[in-house]
Amino acid sequence: MKRILFSISLVLLISLYAKDVFSQTESSTGITNRKWWKEAVVYQIYPRSFKDSDGDGIGDLKGIISKLDYIKSLGIDVVWLNPIYSSPNDDNGYDVSDYRNIMKDFGTMADFDSLVKGMHARGIKLVMDLVVNHSSDEHEWFKQSRSSRTNPYRNYYHWWNADRGKPAPRYSLFDVNHDAWKYDSLTDAYYLHYFSRKQPDLNWENPQVRMEVFDIMKFWADKGIDGFRLDAFQFAAKDTSFPAFPAGYEKRFQLYYAMGPHLHDYLKEMNKEVFSKYDVMSVAEGAGNSFEDAHDLVDPVRKELNMAYAFEGVDIAKPQGYRLLHFKEVFSRWDSAFAKNGWLSIFLSNHDQARLVSRFGNDSPAFRELSAKMLATFIMTMRGTPFFYNGDELGMTNIRFTKIQDYRDMSIINEYQHQKNIHADTLKFLELEKFESRDNGRTPFQWDNSANAGFTVGIPWIQVNPNYKYINAAIEENDPNSCLNYFRNLVKLRKNNLVLVYGKYKLLDKDNPNVYAYTREGEGKKFLIILNFSATNAQTHVGVAIQNILLSNYNDNNDRKVRQPVIVLRPYEALICLLK
Ligand code: GLC
Repeated sequence: MKRILFSISLVLLISLYAKDVFSQTESSTGITNRKWWKEAVVYQIYPRSFKDSDGDGIGDLKGIISKLDYIKSLGIDVVWLNPIYSSPNDDNGYDVSDYRNIMKDFGTMADFDSLVKGMHARGIKLVMDLVVNHSSDEHEWFKQSRSSRTNPYRNYYHWWNADRGKPAPRYSLFDVNHDAWKYDSLTDAYYLHYFSRKQPDLNWENPQVRMEVFDIMKFWADKGIDGFRLDAFQFAAKDTSFPAFPAGYEKRFQLYYAMGPHLHDYLKEMNKEVFSKYDVMSVAEGAGNSFEDAHDLVDPVRKELNMAYAFEGVDIAKPQGYRLLHFKEVFSRWDSAFAKNGWLSIFLSNHDQARLVSRFGNDSPAFRELSAKMLATFIMTMRGTPFFYNGDELGMTNIRFTKIQDYRDMSIINEYQHQKNIHADTLKFLELEKFESRDNGRTPFQWDNSANAGFTVGIPWIQVNPNYKYINAAIEENDPNSCLNYFRNLVKLRKNNLVLVYGKYKLLDKDNPNVYAYTREGEGKKFLIILNFSATNAQTHVGVAIQNILLSNYNDNNDRKVRQPVIVLRPYEALICLLK
């Protein structure tokens, strides 16, 4: 009863401000350079784990179609779909064998067309993953390329003939020996693969490769999609003389690999050939090694990409915890570097990370919901385009597999083997992966408390997290104070307040080790956001009287009248206040 009363009062409270807060237009804010992709909230769907429609245990396009009303109900504007192209699935679709077809597990091109139609009918845009740093070794190009040294496709990839000796070492992220050169006896040569052996790197120096990729992009853009996420693209350009790197380079391989020669030329060409001809957004995975690199990718005058996502923030979480002071410093630094020019996406999780609440929050029963809501508050009130990963809106948690047999991610399986080969402590490795592994974020979406969380009637391709019994969309749908409904309120608040998108960011109470407080201000409006990142009470001095609490993750803040500039926050408490 108390809960219901609170919810009614929260709705009343929000509607009190609704007129004022939810009605800004460009002319009233004076904001220039508005773009739909800056104002959008992006929801990432991992198709393999979202919803299975045919009982084979693997999520598919029809499954997504059946959940479009749910997706719409989140209030998001854009869906980013992980790769759905034909693939032998060495890396769950990041190894494409046919860029113009749909992976059999996921359905057909007709399903894809219905998906786009269904999304557009609901006002949702679709961003596709573009995986063109490498293809699958089962792509026709590679089959041709490896068949002989003189094949016309030979230069689609990077080959090093063994008569020249062994090439200088390159580090592979997913290879069992971390060796990026794979010897192929068929032509007595090595080919390059920065990721797995089944993901040979394409040769971007070859203009034919570039034209092929641009054609593929046009094929999808002509089908009506609304954008591309460029997978691992900062690694696409290489110094093809393959010089030796200093010893130990592999510990900082990004420094050597990212932003190679001509990368910007390739992006400019891509922009001219594709982006400039369609109303599509573009986002790069990775933002180079410096702000300068990042700006060079996204400054609009350069006509390359719309935005990039940087890893510095998302990499802060460590198994032993992280320092909030560090977190604040990183996000404030990135914000100020892009305050005037360029644009970034803002995110703390995706399919390459473990779960948001388990990495950056606290997934113990007492704090899971509070901290999941607090982290969502952070993402939705920062400058940049928010990217939110499916399941995080429910506060889904890490599964914490204990045995290697439970894992499906080839990068973990190969690394486990590597650890064994070098006689490292595999138990220690497995312990670390309980925190870090990508499979933590890839367990099936938890729809309800029926068998397999309502994800499939078959055997799921990866285990369902047993906590689906009490963490699932159906339960949260009916609870006005759930993570899910809190997320919807946050999206609404952001969508209706351009100042949260474009406004000036100012860090307050900078040296506070537990509380992250900041204002977002622009054109007559000022929001104050206060977030307690700790599991204990914490005090903050924000220098202004706290009033007009618009949204909070505790259920009693409608009674809270804090007129003084010092406030004691409860564990993981999050407040959004309207100061003017
Ligand atoms: C990107 C993807 C990741 C994939 C890798 C190779 O980092 O996000 O999932 O494994 O590229 O394509």
